[in-house]
This record gives sequence, C-alpha cells and structure tokens, in this order.
Amino acid sequence: MTSSTMPINESDAKSSAIARAKRLAPDLAARIGSTPATKFRGNPDIFGRLVADHDEHRALIAMIEQTSGDSPDRRRLFDEMVKEMQAHAAAEEQALWSVVLRNPDTTEHGRHAVAEHKQIDDLIEELQEADMASPGWLRRFAALKDKYLHHIREEEQEQFVAAEQHLSEADLTHLRAVFNRRKQAEKAMAA
Ligand SMILES: [Fe+2]
Ligand SMILES: [Fe+2]
Repeated sequence: MTSSTMPINESDAKSSAIARAKRLAPDLAARIGSTPATKFRGNPDIFGRLVADHDEHRALIAMIEQTSGDSPDRRRLFDEMVKEMQAHAAAEEQALWSVVLRNPDTTEHGRHAVAEHKQIDDLIEELQEADMASPGWLRRFAALKDKYLHHIREEEQEQFVAAEQHLSEADLTHLRAVFNRRKQAEKAMAA
C-alpha cells in the first residue's frame, strides 16, 4: 500500500474536509454536526474520496447559512460551493455512475443518482437567478440544502453500497484516479 492508498481514520477524514472548506472564510464556523453513518469515510477507494467531497460540501453549506445578505462571504462561498458540487457531480457521473449504469443489476441505482443531479442543478440555477439580498434567497437555499443532504446521504448509504458489491478492489482504486482526473478537469473548465 502506498501512502496515497492508505486508509485514514474517519474523524481525520472529516476534519480535513471541513478544513478545506474553512480556507475560504476562516472566521466562519463550519458546524456540520453528526453526519449520517457511512462505512466509506476515510476509505482509500473512490467511495472514500466521494465522501470527503460530500463532507466538504456539508461544511460549505453550514458556512453559507451563517452569512447574511449580499455579502462578499456569501458570494465567495456560494460560487465555490456551486463549482465544487457541479464538478463533483460531473466527475461522479463520468467515473462511477457510467459504470454502474452499464451493469443491469445496478442500472436503477445509477439512474436515481443522476436524476437527482439534474434536480440539484435546477435548484442551483433558481438560486443563481434569485436576489442574494432577499430573505427568499435563504428559503431557496434551505430547499437546496435539504435536497443535497438527502442526495449525499442516500449515495453513501444506498447507491455506493449497491455499486460496491459489483466492483472489484482494482476497479475501486482505478475509479478513484478517474474521478480525481475528471474532477480537476471539470473544475478547471468552470473557473
Ligand atoms: Fe451525486
Ligand atoms: Fe456524490
């Protein structure tokens, strides 16, 4: 095992994800509280990598909730959250869901996750068009938050679990590398 494929412990994995989000606004608290149980946090495969992103997104959401009005913090955090979520979703589709969709035993799981990505995109678009200074913006943000937290909990507890049963160790390691490569490319395109 090389150091990059070594499992790290769950709470370290979670704190480093939160620390990554906090770099954008160190003065804001990022309290994500207890997260839904998952066996993948800290794993050296694609699922551990995806959960690390999910935790970072949970932290960004918690930080945005602490901002008010059309402030520089809210703008910066929201823009980063959108880029992060969209690059994550695109790379997740290219690396993981495409493989899961190809297998008739897991097609339905892949379809479910990808359909939710579309719903999340629509909620993001509504927020981008709404006035950040209005109270309605936070209400819409709460709707996105609910949908997104539901989506990543379900991935961690249901779709990843189903996908894992049909993938070999080698697949899982390979998919992590594909995900990392694709996410970097997607984020560069969004910049
Ligand atoms: Fe997803
Ligand atoms: Fe995900």
